[in-house]
Amino acid sequence: MTLLELDGVTAFYGPVRVLDGVSLSVPEGGAVGILGANGAGKTTTLRAIVGTVRAGGVIRYDGKDIRGLRPEKAAALGIAHVPEGRGTLTDLTVRENLRIGAYLRKDRKAIASDMEYCLDLFPQLQDRVRSNGSALSGGEQQMLAIARAFMSKPRLLLLDEASLGLAPGTAKVVYEAIRRLRVESGIAMLVVEQNANLAFTLVDSATVLETGRNVLAGSTAELKGMDEIRRAYLGG
Ligand SMILES: Nc1ncnc2c1ncn2[C@@H]1O[C@H](COP(=O)(O)OP(=O)(O)O)[C@@H](O)[C@H]1O
Ligand SMILES: [Mg+2]
Repeated sequence: MTLLELDGVTAFYGPVRVLDGVSLSVPEGGAVGILGANGAGKTTTLRAIVGTVRAGGVIRYDGKDIRGLRPEKAAALGIAHVPEGRGTLTDLTVRENLRIGAYLRKDRKAIASDMEYCLDLFPQLQDRVRSNGSALSGGEQQMLAIARAFMSKPRLLLLDEASLGLAPGTAKVVYEAIRRLRVESGIAMLVVEQNANLAFTLVDSATVLETGRNVLAGSTAELKGMDEIRRAYLGG
């Protein structure tokens, strides 16, 4: 079943149209990538879904039209957004960040066990539970942002450039954990990534954006075989 569907989505900053008809769909439990150069409209696509930018076209989630959603409603619908730049609350501790992720939940026992799960998924955070977000490295902040999103018990995770600014080894660790989370939780994922090599370790399919439109789409295997993808995104 399709969980999220975008059809001909447009988006505007003031009068300037930056998305010009973006279409994609994410199946229940599936993982889909959005690739593209800087400025292509990847971040704006995620912002259109959560309602932080004015959008046109069709945005359907769980069978309902959610275009124009009030941003605070996204979480209640089970959509968690890990924005570019992570959004960790740096004046709160790791544990407080995780609790805030769960603020809409009432299932206290499950919250406690999900918190343990996060620390098992990201053992680096284990020793840091009482540290302030500001004391964490960039990689640890990214891990915390993902863990906090998981604590909201989402059905759909929107992930924006989780590898940005991280050392290659750290980026790999982060993606391995996301892959494990995907397998163990069944959360559907829409993953924005400039690093296609990393994205392809996680997603089943992807679409490539160029100046606010889809220019290519296919399964991960199909995309990996395309010359234009290899040249532009895989360094060969
Ligand atoms: N807040 C904003 N106001 C005006 N233009 C913006 C804003 N944010 C992004 N843009 C423009 O929208 C286009 C798409 O940006 P973005 O979605 O951030 O691309 P990407 O995430 O693919 O790098 C770019 O041309 C960018 O300059
Ligand atoms: Mg971006």
